[in-house]
Amino acid sequence: MTWFRLSIATVLLSLLSSVVAKDANATKCLADLKPDGAPPNNTKVLILGGGMAGVIAARTLHERGIDDFVIVEAKHEFGGRMAKQTFGVNGSEYVIEKGANWIHGTQTDDGPANPVWLLAEKHNLSMVASNLSTDITFFDYNGPNNYSATFEASLAAVESARALAGQRWQENKTDLDLRSAYKYLGVAPKTPQEEACEYYQIDYVYAQDASQTSTLAAALSYNNTYNPEAGGYSDVDMLSVDQRGIACIVQAEAATFLNTSQVLFNQTVKTIQYNQNGVTVQTTDGYSLTADHALVTFSAGVLQNTDVVFEPALPDWKREAISSIEMSVYTKIFLQFKEKFWFDTGIGLYADQQKGRYPVWESLDHPCLFPGSGIIFVTVTGDYANYLEQLNKNITQVQLEVMEVLRRMYPGAPDPVDIWLPIWGRAPLFRGSYSSWGAPFVPEYSYNLSAPVNGHLWFAGEATSSKYFGFMHGAYLEGQKAATNIATCIKNPQRCPPTTT
Ligand SMILES: Cc1cc2nc3c(=O)[nH]c(=O)nc-3n(C[C@H](O)[C@H](O)[C@H](O)COP(=O)(O)OP(=O)(O)OC[C@H]3O[C@@H](n4cnc5c(N)ncnc54)[C@H](O)[C@@H]3O)c2cc1C
Ligand SMILES: *[C@@H]1O[C@H](CO)[C@@H](O)[C@H](O)[C@H]1NC(C)=O
Ligand SMILES: *[C@@H]1O[C@H](CO)[C@@H](O)[C@H](O)[C@H]1NC(C)=O
Ligand SMILES: *[C@@H]1O[C@H](CO)[C@@H](O)[C@H](O)[C@H]1NC(C)=O
Ligand SMILES: *[C@@H]1O[C@H](CO)[C@@H](O)[C@H](O)[C@H]1NC(C)=O
Ligand SMILES: *[C@@H]1O[C@H](CO)[C@@H](O)[C@H](O)[C@H]1NC(C)=O
Ligand SMILES: *[C@@H]1O[C@H](CO)[C@@H](O)[C@H](O)[C@H]1NC(C)=O
Ligand SMILES: *[C@@H]1O[C@H](CO)[C@@H](O)[C@H](O)[C@H]1NC(C)=O
Ligand SMILES: *[C@@H]1O[C@H](CO)[C@@H](O)[C@H](O)[C@H]1NC(C)=O
Ligand SMILES: *[C@@H]1O[C@H](CO)[C@@H](O)[C@H](O)[C@H]1NC(C)=O
Ligand SMILES: *[C@@H]1O[C@H](CO)[C@@H](O)[C@H](O)[C@H]1NC(C)=O
Ligand SMILES: *[C@@H]1O[C@H](CO)[C@@H](O)[C@H](O)[C@H]1NC(C)=O
Ligand SMILES: *[C@@H]1O[C@H](CO)[C@@H](O)[C@H](O)[C@H]1NC(C)=O
Repeated sequence: MTWFRLSIATVLLSLLSSVVAKDANATKCLADLKPDGAPPNNTKVLILGGGMAGVIAARTLHERGIDDFVIVEAKHEFGGRMAKQTFGVNGSEYVIEKGANWIHGTQTDDGPANPVWLLAEKHNLSMVASNLSTDITFFDYNGPNNYSATFEASLAAVESARALAGQRWQENKTDLDLRSAYKYLGVAPKTPQEEACEYYQIDYVYAQDASQTSTLAAALSYNNTYNPEAGGYSDVDMLSVDQRGIACIVQAEAATFLNTSQVLFNQTVKTIQYNQNGVTVQTTDGYSLTADHALVTFSAGVLQNTDVVFEPALPDWKREAISSIEMSVYTKIFLQFKEKFWFDTGIGLYADQQKGRYPVWESLDHPCLFPGSGIIFVTVTGDYANYLEQLNKNITQVQLEVMEVLRRMYPGAPDPVDIWLPIWGRAPLFRGSYSSWGAPFVPEYSYNLSAPVNGHLWFAGEATSSKYFGFMHGAYLEGQKAATNIATCIKNPQRCPPTTT
């Protein structure tokens, strides 16, 4: 297994934290994989993208006896939106997650299990249960202010909206956006505190505001993930604190079945040509690879932009479906201080006079997480996250804004020793953080987003999941589903999709 390479830094960092030390050696993550010479050409399948969906699709093909495929990935490792970052000043560095960090939903009794949680257990990922709706300290622009009763009301409001969605669905009534549903239910947040609580239930989850969010789609994804009564997994949120990074579960899984000739890293796909016989893919480095089938796992944001050109252009029904989904931005800003001076809960909720301005603070300097790290992060979403990506051209500006808010919570707070934020909205390989649906949600758009084109071009990823869009487990299950269908088609051409667009 010469192609396993665990970075020395990762090992050293793992040993820094006693929380994760027990698992430090459990699984080596497949970081850099050096291909043996030229990639194979004229394979049965090209898997475009090596995130959760792409890697699970590859494993599924392998399980079905099909090993004649290549994964083409622009980055130099697997994981995509599961991506770690080393953060902190020299001597006090921690691996933090710039993308996905929680496994949302585990398993209730012997009900359905979240496959990503099972994968995490298999690869000994270090995780800690977060208590996202109970472990909160409340602040507003005047400092601490216990508005927990307002928060309880906001939990009840979002629950009523889910019930309303279910009822309207049964009665064949049209979907409403969450703002309209709230008005209908007599829920009208007015104060900064009420708005911050609403933000926590909606914007912080869907990365867009109530008026932009489908009540039906939001309820479906919530119920299918969190609500065991509605077929979901459980209402448990597991936070990865693993110093190998959460992407390790994808990398380690890849290492169980892949060999070096099946991967092409550092190659960005530029064009995808398809016809009735197959697919040819061109990369920016001039590789041209031909295959019978291609599975596109790029984010909805990538497909909505012109980074990848399809020849011929995708049919209208496909372009309409791609256009109909939202690709929202969710940005975490990490700060490190000499020492912790803030709340002992996991979360601090801050109500500004301007809704969405640095509202959700999460402490990593916590006995169960990275004690002594001095790290806290704040999340912004949607329009504010877009604004922040502009502002980030000068990180000093970001720090000034963030510290103005933190000093409202803690007057006299010192300056941070380190600050960092990832860019998702403007990143050409992602063009956003994850997908959400506006209202009215048209389930046929979701179906069409995942449907193959012309018998040879297939699609998978979190966005193609009507039940679990946005989540890692959505990406997992969609990769598995698409590869199952591709394998069926390869083995039994009568069961291939039609070769017309
Ligand atoms: C900030 C943030 C927080 C999140 N938090 C959570 C969370 O807590 N829990 C959760 O379940 N989910 C979370 N998510 C969502 C989760 O990360 C995604 O749903 C999931 O990882 C998507 O997997 P995917 O395979 O569909 O797509 P991706 O991970 O985007 O994989 C697609 C791959 O294609 C590659 N690619 C793109 N364009 C090209 C090209 N032109 N050529 C070659 N390769 C290309 C990309 O590099 C990428 O590796 C979060 C996402 C973000 C960004
Ligand atoms: C990890 O492996 C190294 C070398 O193989 C060993 O010395 C160390 O004790 C192991 N650490 C743990 C936590 O198992
Ligand atoms: C996970 O840890 C268990 C117990 O320490 C060990 O038996 C198992 O081999 C580990 N799994 C992997 C994939 O490393
Ligand atoms: C890909 O690029 C990275 C960063 O530039 C480099 O470290 C890595 O060795 C490259 N990997 C391959 C397989 O070319
Ligand atoms: C790697 O996979 C390819 C494609 O299936 C196969 O031809 C080759 O023999 C494999 N190599 C090894 C070392 O397993
Ligand atoms: C970090 O600190 C170590 C020793 O404390 C030193 O050797 C090293 O050069 C420092 N690295 C940087 C990037 O400052
Ligand atoms: C969440 O609550 C559980 C049970 O009360 C507790 O064991 C756990 O430590 C809490 N998690 C955090 C991060 O505080
Ligand atoms: C806030 O108020 C709630 C309900 O009155 C109470 O249970 C909780 O302990 C209070 N929290 C603080 C930090 O005072
Ligand atoms: C979600 O679950 C709740 C509680 O079980 C139920 O009342 C509601 O109808 C469900 N909503 C949808 C859209 O399925
Ligand atoms: C909703 O529509 C379905 C299918 O058109 C129909 O079977 C059902 O009876 C309708 N339900 C109501 C409450 O009208
Ligand atoms: C792959 O094969 C096609 C024809 O089937 C050819 O045009 C292309 O140049 C080949 N690519 C590589 C990298 O060999
Ligand atoms: C979904 O795609 C089919 C073609 O496959 C098209 O007829 C239908 O109108 C599309 N649905 C929507 C809502 O665009
Ligand atoms: C960055 O912003 C700070 C604070 O506004 C300002 O003092 C500094 O000149 C800016 N730097 C650049 C390169 O624009």
